[in-house]
Amino acid sequence: MQAQEMTANPCREPEYQWDLVTWNDTFRTGNPGIDEDHQKLLQLFNEFSMAVNAGKSESIVQAVLDDLVDYTHYHFSREEALMLENGYPDYERHKKMHDTFARQIIDVGSHLDVGGDMGAFLLSFLAKWLSGHILVADKRLGDYLESRGINVPH
Ligand SMILES: [Fe+2]
Ligand SMILES: [Fe+2]
Repeated sequence: MQAQEMTANPCREPEYQWDLVTWNDTFRTGNPGIDEDHQKLLQLFNEFSMAVNAGKSESIVQAVLDDLVDYTHYHFSREEALMLENGYPDYERHKKMHDTFARQIIDVGSHLDVGGDMGAFLLSFLAKWLSGHILVADKRLGDYLESRGINVPH
């Protein structure tokens, strides 16, 4: 028997398989509530990547993306409430990052074309933004909260 090419969907190019983002300790901000949210966010991001990797239909990919967007909004509002309640000095700048991201993800998501350039752009944008924002801005917030003795789940 000869080795077979992947022919699940002959219309699709041999696809790039998107990497998943694995949660690890470097993502830890020190605030259990925020960390829990981030784990859920990464899990939703991975579900999105897997749906694209598996060549799922546009409506399925869109539904997974909608879940990710909804959870992102929920998480941002939790972080913003923590910042306000605790007098976080960098609140404005951090909130602006959230707002810009929320606008961009909706913008790009509305032009989603699964397996096409937009899908590829969105995946790399999301992966970079999520990990970059957590590793820098959210960690800074976690350090601040920790310095004030606030590390209980919100
Ligand atoms: Fe966050
Ligand atoms: Fe944040």
